[in-house]
Amino acid sequence: MLNFNKPRSQPRPPRSYALGGVDHAEPIKKKGFVRKIVFALGLVALCIFMLKQSPTFKSPSPFSRRETGVTHVLVTGGAGYIGSHATLRLLKDSFRVTIVDNLSRGNIGAVKVLQDLFPEPGRLQFIYADLGDAKVVNKIFSENAFDAVMHFAAVAYVGESTLDPLKYYHNITSNTLVVLEAMAAHNVNTLIYSSTCATYGEPEKMPITEETPQHPINPYGKAKKMSEDIIQDFHKNSDMAVMILRYFNVIGSDPDGTLGEAPRPELREHGRISGACFDAARGITKGLKVRGTDYKTSDGTCIRDYIDVTDLVDAHVKALENAKPGHVGIYNVGTGKGRSVKEFVEACEKATGASIKVEYLPRRPGDYAEVFSDPSKIRLELNWSAQFTDLEKSLQVAWKWQKSHHNGYGSTEASI
Ligand SMILES: NC(=O)c1ccc[n+]([C@@H]2O[C@H](COP(=O)([O-])OP(=O)(O)OC[C@H]3O[C@@H](n4cnc5c(N)ncnc54)[C@H](O)[C@@H]3O)[C@@H](O)[C@H]2O)c1
Repeated sequence: MLNFNKPRSQPRPPRSYALGGVDHAEPIKKKGFVRKIVFALGLVALCIFMLKQSPTFKSPSPFSRRETGVTHVLVTGGAGYIGSHATLRLLKDSFRVTIVDNLSRGNIGAVKVLQDLFPEPGRLQFIYADLGDAKVVNKIFSENAFDAVMHFAAVAYVGESTLDPLKYYHNITSNTLVVLEAMAAHNVNTLIYSSTCATYGEPEKMPITEETPQHPINPYGKAKKMSEDIIQDFHKNSDMAVMILRYFNVIGSDPDGTLGEAPRPELREHGRISGACFDAARGITKGLKVRGTDYKTSDGTCIRDYIDVTDLVDAHVKALENAKPGHVGIYNVGTGKGRSVKEFVEACEKATGASIKVEYLPRRPGDYAEVFSDPSKIRLELNWSAQFTDLEKSLQVAWKWQKSHHNGYGSTEASI
């Protein structure tokens, strides 16, 4: 009988005598042990192999881990007009980007264009999700290692907000709270927030500085102002780096012609002036409806500050680079120059070569007469100023994309 219980202290015979009896116990014990190890390793290898074969097995995604030298930005609303342009710029600048969008207003076609341009693993991922669903948002934050958030996602039409205010408070204010809570819970410490000049309302004194009191006059502006307040209140007890950018009226598109503005046809009636001008120039609509000709402005039509989307996304990158922990930066993003609706239509006619029929109508509720920015703060602090300030040229670039995308992202066939 082999004695495996032999006390270890017992003296060993010299190796040359180890031929039989109890002295064979050690090597045999080792062999058994090795066999067990080999068996266990084999079992582990088999389990790994089977797991890998299983459809649910996923190797860790590059989006789920932090990588030295790579900044991972969550772009909410990245399938939309401004968010897609921001994503393009971030990817060109070597950022890693995750887009979260519910496609309620954006275009999956824009995401596809971006994915085709940047197909390498770990550059761009798209997550179809609604920011109103806190559980889903929390899961997204727990599965991805974000360094910063650019929060663009929102419904964003002044006219629609007067008709359906609750939608605006829910989508803008409540969803910003969801995003902020997820950021706080998952230690994501940099936020660039898309706000608007609509938060100022109709100030008497122009131009608008960041010190101009905010008295929004429509639910869209009020919902954005509430979001700003929530962010700033939260920030009082947090070390988050926050930049709030208050955009003026955004126009134009990517000069390389890869992206454009393609709002849903059903939103046409609430749409922005550039889309309405292009629709009229293409003959999709009979003409342009200009609401309000009795404002106290030089030609009676509203005055706005039109900022090119390429300049706007540049402001975001500068904001991201300059965001400091424990600091909230608030900046107007505009050109500093106001143009009337009549001037805009003239520039659009020149850019498109079409004659646009204009129908003048009474004022639209919730609109204000004159709005333009004082952009000195952003120039002095972030070294940013608008470069694409020729209205006609910005519209020409946008028109080029419109002409070759008659159905928006639905079709890329040239139509004119
Ligand atoms: N376009 C302008 O002139 C302008 C001016 C000032 C501020 N802004 C702000 O800029 C941001 C972007 O505006 P835009 O013009 O690109 O609008 P857009 O409609 O083109 O894009 C918004 C995107 O957000 C997505 N989205 C909306 N609700 C969502 C939700 N609950 N969950 C997930 N995704 C959701 C939409 O599907 C869409 O892709 C908005 O916050 C808007 O308020 C725009």
